[in-house]
Amino acid sequence: MNPKWWKESVVYQIYPISFMDSNGDGIGDLRGIISKLDYLQDLGVDVIWVCPIYKSPNHDNGYDISDYCDIMDEFGTMGDFDLLLKEIHLRGMKLMMDLVLNHTSHKHAWFLDSRRSKDDPKRDFYIWRKGKGGGPPNNWESYFSGSVWEYDQETDEYYLHLYSKYQPDLNWENPQVIEKLHEMVAWWLKKGVDGFRFDAIAHIVKQQGLPDAENPHQRPTVRAYEMFSNLDDVHTLLQNLYDKVLYFYDIMTVGETSGLGPEEALDYVGDGRRELNMTFQFEHMFLDAASAGSGKWDAVPWSLIELKKIMSNWQIVLHNRGWNANYLCNHDQPRAVSRFGDDVVCRVPSAKMLATFIHTLEGTPYIYQGEEIGMTNVAFDSIDEYRDVETLNYYEEKRSQGVSEEEIMRAVHKKSRDNARTPMQWDATENAGFTTGDPWLSVNSNYMEINVVRAVKDHDSIFHYYKKLIQLRKKHKVIVYGEYKLLLPLHEEIYAYTRTLENEQLLIILNFFGREPVFEMPEEMDPQGMELLISNFEPKKGEDLTRLKLRPYEARVYLKRL
Ligand code: GLC
Ligand code: CA
Repeated sequence: MNPKWWKESVVYQIYPISFMDSNGDGIGDLRGIISKLDYLQDLGVDVIWVCPIYKSPNHDNGYDISDYCDIMDEFGTMGDFDLLLKEIHLRGMKLMMDLVLNHTSHKHAWFLDSRRSKDDPKRDFYIWRKGKGGGPPNNWESYFSGSVWEYDQETDEYYLHLYSKYQPDLNWENPQVIEKLHEMVAWWLKKGVDGFRFDAIAHIVKQQGLPDAENPHQRPTVRAYEMFSNLDDVHTLLQNLYDKVLYFYDIMTVGETSGLGPEEALDYVGDGRRELNMTFQFEHMFLDAASAGSGKWDAVPWSLIELKKIMSNWQIVLHNRGWNANYLCNHDQPRAVSRFGDDVVCRVPSAKMLATFIHTLEGTPYIYQGEEIGMTNVAFDSIDEYRDVETLNYYEEKRSQGVSEEEIMRAVHKKSRDNARTPMQWDATENAGFTTGDPWLSVNSNYMEINVVRAVKDHDSIFHYYKKLIQLRKKHKVIVYGEYKLLLPLHEEIYAYTRTLENEQLLIILNFFGREPVFEMPEEMDPQGMELLISNFEPKKGEDLTRLKLRPYEARVYLKRL
């Protein structure tokens, strides 16, 4: 089972701009995070992943870096950072940085030089091409709508940006770029950080020659993921980074890699690959999208059977060969309880059920800020209240195509990244205790009911349930390393599985919906001697485990010694 500390850890993700504001300017900051470390320690998490805090003009909340070795003014100073790292370590926790190596900000000194002239030594730090037939060099579409190419009058060429035009892609074919990035990664490691989440790492290599993608509908731009995702050379570059830099430190790494299945993921995380420890896969994040082609905005109902298929495949393929990163939410996704649970009638039990799921799969569980108190999606009335560049671009694009305001807002309410970015709800005071000023993005109006102070006081809260799940992970190796086996693959409402390690077996029973299905114990499993480790409901007196009628969103975890 090849034990590692990062396999046994629980990760908590912080989106700094929305976590805690210490100086009343409405923007979360590093001192704000420091003031909440005791809370995180109490929750019991091991690793804190902090989304980008580097110098940035903030077109994409820090994912547009203008200086990798400095701190964003709004977030604080390098002194604050050093204090944060120290305070995290003092509490026995670790810090994972979020590093964007695919692109920089258009305000990065390299890019300012690069765009100045075709002869500038930094010109080839980015990807510049001449236009074609009066238009951009090819038909690839950006993640944030429109072409990936931005015309620059200065030199009469286009530069490539897979994300917004404020995020030009670095040219990884240039050895100087690689050298600079390696130096920078090493610089942070020497400071003592404990790991990295590598943003958009699957995209650092583009198809040679940057050819047009197939375009059956003759649209101006098309989704061209296969042209810039998970290409072979990404692995060569990651191995190089590993051998030259990462190898010398006992750290944890996770890559953001959309568009792959578990077999391909093994190329990144397979034991002996010398690349990454784990990757974020996206298959389950597209369950409620009409098609990959239409992107995420076209929401459709998702099916539990499909979820089981996807997750089981990852569990089985990676067992003993790699390692999973398990999550239902992050700063790019809607809130988990609104998406996969019921945030109206059964918010508390469904949030606990989803937590049980993520914490009892094989892999490292990730908690996104606010998930531990069951924070929900938000539905602002007007697009003016939204801040996310992806959402705003989508809105503009759809409006220009004549789509109705109502239809666009429906999609925004379901899928906007701002759902997960509203400020953390600390208490019932104004602005949820996040700031004494005007928050950069409005607080969700349900903060009087959903907030940390309330959750900590209530021993039956989602927060305390998370705490217990984390404690169980520390106590039972089978939760970390046990081999997964799916039961009832075709049941439409119940997701059940076992995890087995040596002579210990877990049985996990999850009712994913609001009805009351009956769980029938498989014949080969004897309920005698099963110990209930955790559940979101009190078990009924004298109940029959062989035919268990589940309550809406009920979750149970049993342990049995074989
Ligand atoms: C990743 C980040 C996302 C960001 C994008 C561009 O997908 O998670 O927030 O917008 O990369 O850096
Ligand atoms: Ca602040």
